Amino acid sequence: MIRLADIRFRWRSRDPLVLDIPELAVDSGEKLFVRGPSGGGKTTLLNLLGGVIEPEAGTVSILGTEMAGLRGGTRDAFRAGHIGFVFQMFNLVPYLPLIDNVLLPCRFSARRRERAGAHPEAEARRLLTHMELPVERLAGRPVSGLSQGEQQRVAAARALIGTPELVIADEPTSALDEDAREAFLSLLMEEVDKAGSTLIFVSHDARLEPAFGRSIAMAEINRATPER
Ligand SMILES: Nc1ncnc2c1ncn2[C@@H]1O[C@H](COP(=O)(O)OP(=O)(O)OP(=O)(O)O)[C@@H](O)[C@H]1O
Ligand SMILES: [Mg+2]
Repeated sequence: MIRLADIRFRWRSRDPLVLDIPELAVDSGEKLFVRGPSGGGKTTLLNLLGGVIEPEAGTVSILGTEMAGLRGGTRDAFRAGHIGFVFQMFNLVPYLPLIDNVLLPCRFSARRRERAGAHPEAEARRLLTHMELPVERLAGRPVSGLSQGEQQRVAAARALIGTPELVIADEPTSALDEDAREAFLSLLMEEVDKAGSTLIFVSHDARLEPAFGRSIAMAEINRATPER
């Protein structure tokens, strides 16, 4: 599913390396928990997996596709078609209502739209309801009027719609209380299992770790992460 080899990345040429990863392989259907110190390169690694940034050296292969071989629009289409992202800062479109935010991947990708079934809007509502959001009550509001925890669940529904093969979640539970966190995690797992997706989940919260098939510390894979 994912294979990284001899990756080096820095944000600016005069900066030190943020990623120095000799190897990382993730199998199809695997659920991987990634932990590590703040500033240790977790979000940077997820950006690399999503083809948002390119390494200065090394190769990133996702679903057998070499990311470096994809240019501009093709890479955007690949990302929209195959990867669901829950960003650390949600990245919702503030003026759009929640259903439209969830449907965005279906707008950008015919593949995601087809995989969302005959009625993508109904699928959006199902996912939001499954994330325990009171859809009817919140539906008319722009998402900027939702709480942080509500926005986080909208972001998760958006990542899941149209069953992408790879779901990437960056601290998706940081705004949730304990009950909501447990519920969110089991719902996410259920949807990921049903779709047969691979999940990469970044968190500081070690309490979530037992729910995952494999767990790695950034310092184990990335020579540029300080051990802590
Ligand atoms: N867009 C950017 N431009 C320049 N430097 C960046 C950028 N994003 C991150 N960095 C730097 O890269 C390093 C790794 O940041 P990153 O966001 O990947 O860490 P993280 O492990 O996700 O941290 P956190 O747990 O706080 O989210 C940090 O030193 C950070 O300052
Ligand atoms: Mg981060």
